Amino acid sequence: MAFMKLEERWDTGLMPERYKSEDALELAERVARIKRRFGSRLFLPGHHYQKDEVIAFADATGDSLQLAQAGAANRKAEFIVFLGVHFMAETADILSSDRQAVLLPDLRAGCSMADMADRHQTERCWEALTERFGDTVIPVTYVNSTAAIKAFVGRRGGATVTSSNAADMLKWAWQRKKRILFLPDQHLGRNTAFRLGVARREMAVWDPIGHVLQQDEEGPWEDVRIILWKGHCSVHQNFTLQQVQSIRRNDPERRIIVHPECSFEVVQAADEVGSTHRIIKALEAAPSGSRWAVGTEMNLVNRLKRQLSDKDIVSLSPQMCPCLTMNRIDLPHLAWTLDELEQGRLVNRIQVDGQTAADAKLALDRMLERDS
Ligand code: 13P
Ligand code: SF4
Repeated sequence: MAFMKLEERWDTGLMPERYKSEDALELAERVARIKRRFGSRLFLPGHHYQKDEVIAFADATGDSLQLAQAGAANRKAEFIVFLGVHFMAETADILSSDRQAVLLPDLRAGCSMADMADRHQTERCWEALTERFGDTVIPVTYVNSTAAIKAFVGRRGGATVTSSNAADMLKWAWQRKKRILFLPDQHLGRNTAFRLGVARREMAVWDPIGHVLQQDEEGPWEDVRIILWKGHCSVHQNFTLQQVQSIRRNDPERRIIVHPECSFEVVQAADEVGSTHRIIKALEAAPSGSRWAVGTEMNLVNRLKRQLSDKDIVSLSPQMCPCLTMNRIDLPHLAWTLDELEQGRLVNRIQVDGQTAADAKLALDRMLERDS
């Protein structure tokens, strides 16, 4: 079959309405057929929080770290259709070669946390920190951030982290500078630093809206070792200490495992904490019949319930917490993207500009080198 040259035709657009009313079986058959037709020229990485109807077609599944590694390793695929959110597709574009194209089936699949830090806010924060602390700060960003923030960090000698390697990367950063500016998730930063022995009075929070720097607990400013950006995940923020206490009261044998994007109080009260990958491994290894409450995104919890049916798994939140932007990627959008691809059109291509990509890659490479 004749393939178009990359760049020849590409488009950014919305899926036609008719896809929404198409039969799911037909859409699934078409996706499977196009995947077979393209073979190794097409690669579909899928995050654990994606819906079952699309994760069924993923060539690799994983947490953010695993997907970044998979993206960096794949030099073969001409087309990477990302089953995840915008910052993940940006990372895949940064780590892929010029002859590879990254597509995101729905451009509305963003991340509210990543949107909580923009370049101008970050530069303003950096100025304030430099004024207060001089040249003693190194920036570190969670991969859940825009390419512009990763580039900011890369230019200043810092690195990215994921929830799987945050502890190791914070140690790496403290070997270089006395203080860390941690973007954009205050909870991952606080939970990880505390686990490494940093006291709350050695932590401060930067509020990018009010431009205020405030210590977590009172103490000498000179002792501050980490400055946490006041951002959060709108999904994990919904898990509360009251939910943990309710399980402790009503079902004391049930173990509680949560993601480090949950608040400090929730993480402290839980039995275990870990990235999505770690949560999956812990539940897989748990004895049959054991009871668990899981504090992470709903699609993953529901999948674990189904796949590990010998265990009693519930969500920590009775309301369950979906990530609405992850859920934007559904079977109709995947089918539409692949239909268009088959017609030689690249829809919703994610392309990070050259300089931003080069600087962001510095930050990503510093992390990936340690994790390889
Ligand atoms: P991990 O994949 O690193 O566990 O992060 C979870 C998440 O919120 C991704 O958006
Ligand atoms: Fe962003 Fe939270 Fe959704 Fe992950 S789960 S994509 S951090 S909003």
